[in-house]
Amino acid sequence: MNDSNYGLGNVTAVLGTQWGDEGKGKLVDILSKEFQIIARATGGANAGHTIYVPNPLNKDETAKFIFHLIPSGVLHENKTAVLGNGVVIHIPTFIEELDTLKQYNIDLSGRLFISDRAHIVFDYHKKIDALEEEQKGEAKVGTTLRGIGPAYQDKIARRGVRMGELLDFENFSEHVRRTFIQLKALYKGLKHDIDDELKKLRDFVGVIRPFITDTSFYLNKSIDEGKTVLIEGANGLHLDIDHGTYPFVTSSNASVGGIITGTGIGIGKIKSVVGIMKAYVTRVGSGVFPTELTDETGNALREKGGEYGSTTGRPRRCGWFDAVVGRYAVMINGLTSVNLTKLDVLDELETIKICNGYKYKGKKLNSMPSSVEMYKDLELDYLELPGWKTDTSKALKFEELPENAKKYVLKIEELIKCPINFIGVGVRRDQIIYKN
Ligand code: GDP
Ligand code: IMO
Ligand code: MG
Repeated sequence: MNDSNYGLGNVTAVLGTQWGDEGKGKLVDILSKEFQIIARATGGANAGHTIYVPNPLNKDETAKFIFHLIPSGVLHENKTAVLGNGVVIHIPTFIEELDTLKQYNIDLSGRLFISDRAHIVFDYHKKIDALEEEQKGEAKVGTTLRGIGPAYQDKIARRGVRMGELLDFENFSEHVRRTFIQLKALYKGLKHDIDDELKKLRDFVGVIRPFITDTSFYLNKSIDEGKTVLIEGANGLHLDIDHGTYPFVTSSNASVGGIITGTGIGIGKIKSVVGIMKAYVTRVGSGVFPTELTDETGNALREKGGEYGSTTGRPRRCGWFDAVVGRYAVMINGLTSVNLTKLDVLDELETIKICNGYKYKGKKLNSMPSSVEMYKDLELDYLELPGWKTDTSKALKFEELPENAKKYVLKIEELIKCPINFIGVGVRRDQIIYKN
């Protein structure tokens, strides 16, 4: 890895490889130092990307930021942030994030662009999200209730409202009302004051308008001019609408496909794809989770790893590292390298397990089952490795890790068949190890 750009290409994507919350925000914040533009491509405020950095107002203190919509790189001065066309934007949440940044004297004027083609999440989408979950009863997805599914539903049904429409508020309002009438007919239980929502949105228009542009054009032009672009994925591969554990997934492509459609950057321009993989696995919400631990070890991982949702505060389900899940993410995304995160969380364990295969009715499977029903009869093949019982949080180099921790990392690298070039050993920017 070079010191300058860690061996990454001029256009690099960072993607979640499990069920989200792998630590994407932390790596994006670290890598942003070396990139000029940082773009979000998919998802919305279902994402919660946490970073711990020196407080911009007092460098002796640490500040915690949780980004839901704005890319995690904006804490570095002079970086340009982009919300691409694939993102769905809840305007009040976006304004709240802008305001939080302002409190730290971080002003994004002139260095933030929002796609005119990005769809808007309205408050009625959040209500529909809750209605859908209620209707599903036991089979509910356990969504973040941020209105993500209903907003993408409107996009696909070709009745969605896009950011660019805000440039003409009268036409915009008319379109919103038309869509809302359709939705009321579809969802009988939907109660919502659309006039009130439009009134509130009108107040934000002045702030939002200057940010709106054709971001696909901007990104491609910037790349052609030699600028570097880092794309921040949201959610995780196994939450992907196509490749994830459907129907317990989100409503967009969290895989590399979403990066391309969600930014308008052609596939040939994306030079590196880094997968973020937690050294164990977590999941928040419902759905299959083969290596889940519902015992004391699971609780210990949750407490040591601070595994509580950054968007909803829900406790995250925890389990052993699953190499089947990892390999699938490497394959679908064509990952060029991996950041193994939160190795330090395993420091106190006596022994550590890795799942390396699934059997269904006694037969070895080659990949992830497509049907959630099949997961009920899965048999898991586990490897067991000795723990290291040593603090890794101060290690600066791979050579400084305890022997058993090195063996654990190298075993995962061998099983997922992708180089692990970054290893996380704590929440801070300096708690990362670069490995060749
Ligand atoms: P994201 O959604 O993928 O950005 O991840 P989240 O921010 O939701 O959750 C990851 C959590 O793990 C955050 O609180 C991070 O501060 C924390 N984290 C990231 N990398 C590491 C690491 O290497 N070690 C530890 N202990 N925590 C980490
Ligand atoms: P980041 O970017 C973890 C999960 C929800 C739910 C399912 C569908 O922080 O990794 P949705 O609200 O998208 O309709 O919910 O997907 N989910 C996430 N879980 N991290 C995320 O984002 C998630 N985004 C969605 O918990 O199970
Ligand atoms: Mg998160």
